[in-house]
Amino acid sequence: MPFDQAANRRRFLQFLAASPLFASGSLSALAGEGPTAGIKLPDPIIWAPLRTEDLIKTPKDAINVFNFEPVARANVPPAHFGYMASGIDDEVTLRANREGFLKFQLRPRRLIDVSKIDMTTDILGVKYASPIIIAPVGGQKSFHEDGEIAVAKAAKTGDHLQILSTATTTGVEDVTAARGQPIWYQLYATNSWDVASTMVKRAEKAGCLAVAVTVDRSGGRNQETLFRLMPTDKRDCSGCHERGNLATNMKRRSMYEGIDLTGLTHTQSSNMTWDFMKRLRDLTKMKIVIKGVLAYEDAVLAADAGIDAIIVSNHGGRSEDSGRSTIDALPEIVEAVKGRMPILVDSGFRRGTDIVKALCMGATAVCIGRPYIWGLGAFGQGGVERVLELMRAELYGAMQQVGAPTIKHLVPAMVRRA
Ligand SMILES: Cc1cc2nc3c(=O)[nH]c(=O)nc-3n(C[C@H](O)[C@H](O)[C@H](O)COP(=O)(O)O)c2cc1C
Repeated sequence: MPFDQAANRRRFLQFLAASPLFASGSLSALAGEGPTAGIKLPDPIIWAPLRTEDLIKTPKDAINVFNFEPVARANVPPAHFGYMASGIDDEVTLRANREGFLKFQLRPRRLIDVSKIDMTTDILGVKYASPIIIAPVGGQKSFHEDGEIAVAKAAKTGDHLQILSTATTTGVEDVTAARGQPIWYQLYATNSWDVASTMVKRAEKAGCLAVAVTVDRSGGRNQETLFRLMPTDKRDCSGCHERGNLATNMKRRSMYEGIDLTGLTHTQSSNMTWDFMKRLRDLTKMKIVIKGVLAYEDAVLAADAGIDAIIVSNHGGRSEDSGRSTIDALPEIVEAVKGRMPILVDSGFRRGTDIVKALCMGATAVCIGRPYIWGLGAFGQGGVERVLELMRAELYGAMQQVGAPTIKHLVPAMVRRA
């Protein structure tokens, strides 16, 4: 076929017209209906614009973790998807968690042998294949029928530490068995010591290595994305959710089984203070981790109190709308803690470079939330496995790019504020 320059130009313009970048109306000028001055192509030109309507068909098709989210949106009931995706109010913190990474740049080193990368990481005395941890996410059967068991099996495949939520839809014993190694238990302590201590004892009996006490869900929250999507969900939700009665509402939450919830109005702990940690220390031999620290003052108090580790977290932008990302909060906390305990971090981690930035700043490991839930909602266990595989592959590549053959080689000099 002869080379048809005009046809090619037409096709190119059609391509541009389909690109969201050019949805400005000025294309008609480029198409010959007016002067072309003022049109500037982006540099570099985006040759493969994202088309969220092109759903991947198998986990292997994914080229990054974001590919799973639109598939999960198609599969998961709107209210459940809304619960997962939602931030608070204007979702400033939710966006900040991603945008925060742009404030920091990597500063690669060269002529270092990075032909083999060792990502193994010690987390509270246990060696894992990578510093990528599965963050606690409640109610995983609401995203896929295999729920927490699918996630545990995927965690086993990639040798990831798994933190199980208090709001799990499968008991800690079965999840531990599916993981094949001890896990951590995340605690929503409620306002009742009896409820909290019963759960902690059960987790300890199941072999959990640590209890991660979540301290950032102390009050109400306005999950607007959830509330906007809920009315679009036409199912009858009363079979699972009975809003007026906490005890009935918790019947699908395995960790509340057999616990008397009479008088309890909420599963959060708005009355919790540092005294709780002292009582907890007397109750359990498990390591104690505090999840949800954002200010260096609290990190220092935690270290002073002998807490074993903290998780710098804003709950993935789901507990407040302060507007502060965790990657912004991390440096002041690392500086104040002075190595007295490991510092984990989560919220917004999606790329290998995100993880490398946090590790260079001094974090020991990074927890991932929504991405593996996208994988779960999209394809079940296979989706979670692929999400974790992609995160590991990106981390591996990012470590090669900065010249760090091991985690220990990720040092503060490799990251700079932009
Ligand atoms: C749907 C959903 C449920 C969650 N449930 C819990 C929970 O039960 N306990 C908890 O401590 N954190 C919970 N989190 C917060 C995560 O542990 C983690 O802090 C957060 O997801 C990290 O941010 P990311 O989603 O941007 O990766 C939940 C997060 C999501 C998305």
